[in-house]
Amino acid sequence: MSSRREENATTGPFRLWGGRYSKGTDHVLSRVNNSLTVDKRLYSEDLDGSVAYARSLAEAKLLTQSEFKVICYGLETIRDEWKKETIKLMPRDEDVHTVNERRLVEIIGPQIGGKLHTGRSRNEQVVVDMKLWMRNAVSDILKQLAALIGGIKDLATRYIDVLMPGYTHMQKAQPVRFSHWILSYAFYFKEDYHRFQEFYNRMNVLPLGSGALAGNPFNINRHKLADDLGFNGVSYNSMNAVSDRDFVVEFNFLSTLTAVHLSRLAEDLILYSTKEYNFLELSEEYTTGSSLMPQKRNPDSLELVRGISGNVFGQHCGLLMTLKGLPSTYNKDLQCDKSGMFAVYDQTVLSLTLMTGVITTIRLDEERCLSALSYDMLATDMAYYLVRKGIPFREAHHISGEVVAFSEKVKIPINKLSLEDLKEISPYFDETVSGLWNYENSVEQYTVVGGTSRIAVQEQINLLKDFLSSCE
Ligand code: ARG
Repeated sequence: MSSRREENATTGPFRLWGGRYSKGTDHVLSRVNNSLTVDKRLYSEDLDGSVAYARSLAEAKLLTQSEFKVICYGLETIRDEWKKETIKLMPRDEDVHTVNERRLVEIIGPQIGGKLHTGRSRNEQVVVDMKLWMRNAVSDILKQLAALIGGIKDLATRYIDVLMPGYTHMQKAQPVRFSHWILSYAFYFKEDYHRFQEFYNRMNVLPLGSGALAGNPFNINRHKLADDLGFNGVSYNSMNAVSDRDFVVEFNFLSTLTAVHLSRLAEDLILYSTKEYNFLELSEEYTTGSSLMPQKRNPDSLELVRGISGNVFGQHCGLLMTLKGLPSTYNKDLQCDKSGMFAVYDQTVLSLTLMTGVITTIRLDEERCLSALSYDMLATDMAYYLVRKGIPFREAHHISGEVVAFSEKVKIPINKLSLEDLKEISPYFDETVSGLWNYENSVEQYTVVGGTSRIAVQEQINLLKDFLSSCE
């Protein structure tokens, strides 16, 4: 028996499941099966889950108080080793759970160390670890989102009076405040914030106590265990709990949506910072030069944010593909969930941080923004002018269209057409039409909630201020 156990690394005594095996694992399978390089990131959560589980076992009288204390001592010693990076990893350590259990047995001996896993399976352990980890991950993302929203709010406040073209179909459409445009993104990120917050509360449910799939037979108090670990409640079906990765899918999706918002903002900023638009300048810290063309300043930060969004989306799709078609409960395919989850988190935090840096250092060229406006962008205002004189909107739109066509035909800017010319197109025009040719007046008419008037933009800023103070 003992000689069989000493055969090689993969049949050694610390293979958690070695009891019925006589042959070693194929070395390629060992490599593929080994998830330690990825999941060692969960060492601390794994130890937290174990301390709480040991307490449950003690409360259920499966451990004495002194055994519980010894186990806690062992687990804290292991935590220290991880922190100091002195922990020795063995080729046969399949994953982080294996390492922690192996070390526990080495430190406090198999008599007591061997009791920790009573009734517990790695199938549930890994889910607890991931959920504990995800709570912190979501909190970090929430903080980053709030910082970005704050940056956008400050930028909007600083440049509240700057006017620029608003675009649809990439065509100059109507004048808007710069602040109104940039704030449109703050509202995307605010929704992202709420979604992550709701998600946090919904996923914060304890899976531990589900065993491998059938539950826990030792009368542990799962509600107390949930409380100890800061969960809002317990899962109600053990088979569901060990196979459920929907929380990872949701995390990946919410991150993907955030990444898409970041990517769209990046695209706008890239365009607006080109020489062609030149509405704004990115700080040198967030651009790089070309090795060949000395005049160039490339918006790498924003291009990377845009690029990363593709990777994040890819990870999201990848996990959905892994889950599709899986039979009930735990299957090893599920081990493929973590690398994507970590990558999604890392890249989302990086992108948010980068974007916040870009936003807080932008310098606006107010003159360029203003000079990009042209009076034909007030053709809608002309239609509204006629509407205010009692003309149905469709007819007013038509008349205004005729004025635009006429101005193009005679090559006279729309604001320079004579009153006589205008009257010829419609008798409703009078001398008050000259009041139309003012961009400030144009944006100021949109006083409706959500509009681009100063008052409506200020309202948005105030709302975001209140929101941000509620986040603190
Ligand atoms: N390393 C595994 C994972 O990440 C843990 C669960 C292993 N369970 C098992 N029965 N082999 O999914």
